[in-house]
Amino acid sequence: MRTTVGIIGAGPAGLLLARLLDGAGIDSVVLESRDRAYVERRQRAGILEQGTVDVLRAAGAGERMDREGLRHDGIELRFDRRRHRVDFPALTGGRSVTVYAQTEICKDLIALRLQRGGPLLFEVEALAVEDPTGERPRVRFRHGGEEDVLECEYVVGCDGFWGVARKAVPAELSRVFERTYPFGWLGILADVPPSHDELVYARHARGFALLSMRSPSVSRLYLQVPDGTDAGAWDDEAIWDELERRFETDDDWRLERGPITQRSVTPMRSFVHEPMRHGRLFLAGDAAHIVPPTGAKGLNLAVGDVVAFARALTHRMRTGSTALLDAYSENCLRRVWQAERFSYDMTTLLHRAPGADPFEDRLQAARLERLVSSRAAETDLAEAYTGFPLD
Ligand code: APR
Ligand code: PHB
Repeated sequence: MRTTVGIIGAGPAGLLLARLLDGAGIDSVVLESRDRAYVERRQRAGILEQGTVDVLRAAGAGERMDREGLRHDGIELRFDRRRHRVDFPALTGGRSVTVYAQTEICKDLIALRLQRGGPLLFEVEALAVEDPTGERPRVRFRHGGEEDVLECEYVVGCDGFWGVARKAVPAELSRVFERTYPFGWLGILADVPPSHDELVYARHARGFALLSMRSPSVSRLYLQVPDGTDAGAWDDEAIWDELERRFETDDDWRLERGPITQRSVTPMRSFVHEPMRHGRLFLAGDAAHIVPPTGAKGLNLAVGDVVAFARALTHRMRTGSTALLDAYSENCLRRVWQAERFSYDMTTLLHRAPGADPFEDRLQAARLERLVSSRAAETDLAEAYTGFPLD
């Protein structure tokens, strides 16, 4: 098998890249180790920056998002039983975000690729990227017990944090920057209308909680839990009781309960691999960087990376210049580190670290107080949450 761009992984990064290359008339092959149903069911976040919405629309993948996505003009910060709304358009000159689940984006992109695009091969596991610095890098893969090779001009590793692409960068050229957090999120999906029409980020002495949504009839909620918590260890009533405690306010706000249809625990980490390019191998999305979900930046970063790669390769095809390909890593990392900073700030602002001392507690309270009393501080949050421009 031969192609121009070998794409490893059919998460949002790989699928969107395939779509962008289809649009530019550049052929590609997508290899995905899981089956289609698994990829379409996997629960992930779903807050889209304006730039992400624009990219999906321009790629012809925005039709259902425009119909079913929910525009959100703010979030609520909740602490000390008080509520504070952050008004995005007022603080950022009109910007907002869109709530549309990542799984739905994947379904839309898979359907488009299978209708009109090049190959998208499920249950094909990439084993290694070979000769990444040569003229013809290869992806060695396994399908149904057989091994084969995909010959490419470029390989893009969109294979997530646990993928193989990153391993093709020699250890002596790799630098890893990392933080793990001593807590995770227990996330649930519940068949109940969201109890608030915007997201609620709550800081509580018992730990962080987040109220989000998937549609007007489906709620998505999260609880900070200790590292290593087993999702099955909590019964449904215990989850609702704990959510209720952490969202408590002094007014008459109430948390509505409903049947829990899915639950899982997500660990939290910050991670950046530099550089994001080695020869003709490019890393995009979670393969290169992870953010804790508190700032909802993971998907938006993945979109930024593949837009940058598609632009750079199109430029090279049109002009013969590799300048944008050469600048890929540096350009992406600037945006990545801004998202790392913001996600870290949001995480340490709102979670209660086990064993946090009274000094840290007071500092956290002071940071929140500053946010709700200074327009400058609030603007900083609103700008980062709604997103930095793609260019
Ligand atoms: N061969 C083929 N496919 C692989 C391999 C492999 N060796 N290893 C992993 N994959 C596939 C996974 O099964 C998955 O479908 O690569 C895909 C990676 O997708 P994601 O993990 O969704 O990563 P990405 O596309 O970068 O999207 C980033 O996902 O984790 C969230 O918060 C994150 O929203 C962000 C988004
Ligand atoms: C989600 O809806 O899953 C979600 C929303 C906001 C976040 C993280 C996750 O910060």
